[in-house]
Amino acid sequence: MNIINKPTNWAKDTWRKFPRVQQPDWLDDPALKKAEDALEKLPPLVFAGEVSRLRQELSLVEKNKAFIIQGGDCAETFSQCTAAVLRENLKVLLQMSVVLTFAASKRVVKIGRMAGQYAKPRSNNMETFDGKEIPVYRGDMVNKDTPNLEARKANPERILQTYFYSAATLNLLRGYTKGGFASLDNVHKWNKEFIKNTPQGDKYEKLAFEIDKNLSFMKAVGLVKNGALDQVDIYTSHEALILEYEQALTRRDTLSDKVFDCSAHLLWIGDRTRLSDGAHVEFFRGVNNPVGIKLGPDYDLDDFLKIIEIINPNNETGKIVIIPRFGANKVEKLLPKVVQAVNKEGFNLSFCSDPMHGNTFKAGNYKTRDFETILKEITEVNHVLKANNRHLGGIHIETTGLPVTECLGGLQKINQTTLDSNYATTCDPRLNASQSVELAFLLASKLMR
Ligand code: PEP
Ligand code: CO
Repeated sequence: MNIINKPTNWAKDTWRKFPRVQQPDWLDDPALKKAEDALEKLPPLVFAGEVSRLRQELSLVEKNKAFIIQGGDCAETFSQCTAAVLRENLKVLLQMSVVLTFAASKRVVKIGRMAGQYAKPRSNNMETFDGKEIPVYRGDMVNKDTPNLEARKANPERILQTYFYSAATLNLLRGYTKGGFASLDNVHKWNKEFIKNTPQGDKYEKLAFEIDKNLSFMKAVGLVKNGALDQVDIYTSHEALILEYEQALTRRDTLSDKVFDCSAHLLWIGDRTRLSDGAHVEFFRGVNNPVGIKLGPDYDLDDFLKIIEIINPNNETGKIVIIPRFGANKVEKLLPKVVQAVNKEGFNLSFCSDPMHGNTFKAGNYKTRDFETILKEITEVNHVLKANNRHLGGIHIETTGLPVTECLGGLQKINQTTLDSNYATTCDPRLNASQSVELAFLLASKLMR
């Protein structure tokens, strides 16, 4: 296939000549340029070497030697950037990853929807509140969630604030993951507490016991050196929606002489901004970060293949992660065509199932998702991939470590009435800590044994 008709010259601002959707109404505001100029002078948030290491890990995912857990809030918020919230969010990702590491005997690549996930695409530009039309909330990078006209005005200064909240988040993540808090012993202890404190959690006791045994064995025979289990790597990711932010943090690495978007390790293109002739695809053809591409049920297959070719013309490994999010009942019909086409082209890439975004529905006043349907979508994706000589490379979920009641089901049997007790998200419904860890135990026993 040779369908690239892009100009060969790329620069970090060539995207500006291409159409872009889902952008805030702030392009004529002089404060935007000011914020961009200030951001350009600030240090990068992540380093090229870290991004390259993630690319190597994703190459292992392509060979079925590693598994991705990508998770975190639908939308991070400035007010929730606190030690307590970040600690719980990290904890849940680590707990899931320990369960899956042992069950699959595979390295788990941990990627947070963290330290930058502050801008949201929305289905409508306006909404009605108290009888008044107001612009929708587009994430803390753009405006405030408070439902009034003033708060909802897009404010470019928030781009700079996003940088500082992301830096504070990253700083704490690095501290937690390198300072002993994330030690395997600790994480395993939290999983045992989960089993003890959750109704019917004892279902998962056998697997936890096996992990215990493995851990003791590894230590007893000296398989692990002192401290080796005390540190983990966590990578950051967000939807690269506001390209002014991404451009300002894009830098040339002096060691490799390659260009990296240093706002996060992995960036993804959302289902709504995935236009082959659009600005987002143009931007990503020039940076060396791995790129996630969301794929919803309305895809055009040829256009999708074209996007992959544009972003990864040399078919490099560890570069593209396809994130299908069709809805549990559509996977069987819509995924095989994609996998077969990708196989035919011989594309190097991995598949990471997002079982959240195709399964959202309204229950009373709340947007929600059902635990069983979420599990079903992952199971179906796994099945289709296996049947077509590929494999499930990971999962992409919206999750929080807080005890929210936003998704139905799970061991706590959250139902339409109890949704109301702690529904806290500013955007999409998240799995809570218990539902997330349970999902990991179920995947471990269903898919990986
Ligand atoms: C998201 O991941 O929060 C999101 C908006 O996803 P999608 O682009 O798949 O709708
Ligand atoms: Co979402």
